[in-house]
Amino acid sequence: MDVIRIKGGRPLKGRITAGGAKNSVLPIFAACLLTEEECIIRNVPDLSDVRYMGRILEHVGASVVEEGDGVWRIRAQEVRSEAPYELVRKMRASICLLGSLVGRLGEAKVSMPGGCVIGPRPIDLHLKGLRKLSCKVDVEAGYLQVDGSNRRGGGVFLGGRYGSTVTGTANLLMAAVTTPGTTRIECAACEPEIVDLCAVLGKMGAQIEGVGSPTLIVHGIDALRGVDHTVIDDRIETGTYLIAAALTGSDLEVKGAPPSMLGALHDKMEEAGVDLIYREGLWTVHASGPRIPVDLITLPHPGFPTDLQAQMCTLMAVTPGISVLTERIYPNRFMHVSELQRMGADLAIEGASCIVKGVKKLSGAPVMASDLRASAALVLAGLVADGDTWIQRVYHLDRGYQRMDEKLRDVGASVERLPAAEMPKHLLGED
Ligand code: EPU
Repeated sequence: MDVIRIKGGRPLKGRITAGGAKNSVLPIFAACLLTEEECIIRNVPDLSDVRYMGRILEHVGASVVEEGDGVWRIRAQEVRSEAPYELVRKMRASICLLGSLVGRLGEAKVSMPGGCVIGPRPIDLHLKGLRKLSCKVDVEAGYLQVDGSNRRGGGVFLGGRYGSTVTGTANLLMAAVTTPGTTRIECAACEPEIVDLCAVLGKMGAQIEGVGSPTLIVHGIDALRGVDHTVIDDRIETGTYLIAAALTGSDLEVKGAPPSMLGALHDKMEEAGVDLIYREGLWTVHASGPRIPVDLITLPHPGFPTDLQAQMCTLMAVTPGISVLTERIYPNRFMHVSELQRMGADLAIEGASCIVKGVKKLSGAPVMASDLRASAALVLAGLVADGDTWIQRVYHLDRGYQRMDEKLRDVGASVERLPAAEMPKHLLGED
């Protein structure tokens, strides 16, 4: 297992490029099961979650070929309807198979996904949606069994207590595209990754109206065809590097997702005194001026994304003054807080909010990554901390950031990935 060592205090300079969006690729890979024709997916990031999704597709019978340069060829001539626990438990996004198997075969048997460190992640809305399509849904011995042989279009309100559901919308869309009649989804997720999935389904022949809005209307068709699609850039990776530039007071260029996908972050950064310009696919950050603390609340898109809350917490941790970061998607998603405290951050959790009192300096420490975005927040903290920061369990980072250590090194940061054995023994945490 690897660890990352960061020597803080170096400004970043040059250009950093975000890859394809992980949270687009995962449901799009699942959508490839909807057709027996070949699908070519481009701009696929090299991430452990993506490779894992490839393995799951192979398990249900697809041929999955990684051609290099981010191009994957997927062909599901024949598909099995069962996804077992051993596969599903390791990655929650494998629940996307549910919709695509129902859409392709009219039935699915998928293990219930397990727990998750960022808090409870129920799938009641996914199941409600399928039931509204007249699917018979049973939970038996840890498996979801869906019989959609008599499915037909229907209307469903897909909102829950935290708003819309991203993978729930993806699942219902994939089931609905081949469901006879018309399906109307209210309170559908409007995230760019859902728009990207709709673009793929549209190219495959699906008839979807209202793309990008909370009301999606799907007219079922008999069969879908193959597709050649380039995945959108990752808005969360892009946003993470924009925050890194702000944090280190650097003049940095970031190539990645456009402002239409990052409006809430753009707005907050401006409020925080960070100068951001986007032109022809490139963000330019000027962050040498004083920073101002900002409050934020995470919300479904186009609100502030929960997947950037931890990184903003790091930024605010070294911004003079008090800021309040409130989670409205995952009220317990504050695993980064205790590790940032170990680096000297002054943070307090009050219900679903983190109260941040900006300190002058963080100091390097051995810390433990706990989930993907919490890991990113720790890497960012390491960039500005005095001394060395050692991050353990970096496999969390590799799930969603392609070669983050290399990318940051290329713009001047001192970030090294080392075998855990090279970490001084007295710094090692329990693993
Ligand atoms: N929810 C329910 N019932 C459901 C489904 C969701 O109550 O049936 C609740 C959840 O508990 C949560 C809220 O609704 O409070 C939103 O959950 P959602 O279903 O939208 O999340 P998800 O689809 O499981 C995706 C991303 C997450 C991202 C969230 C929110 C993928 C593979 N994952 O998860 O990404 O945080 O949307 O935007 O697309 C990450 O990349 O680090 C990550 C966790």
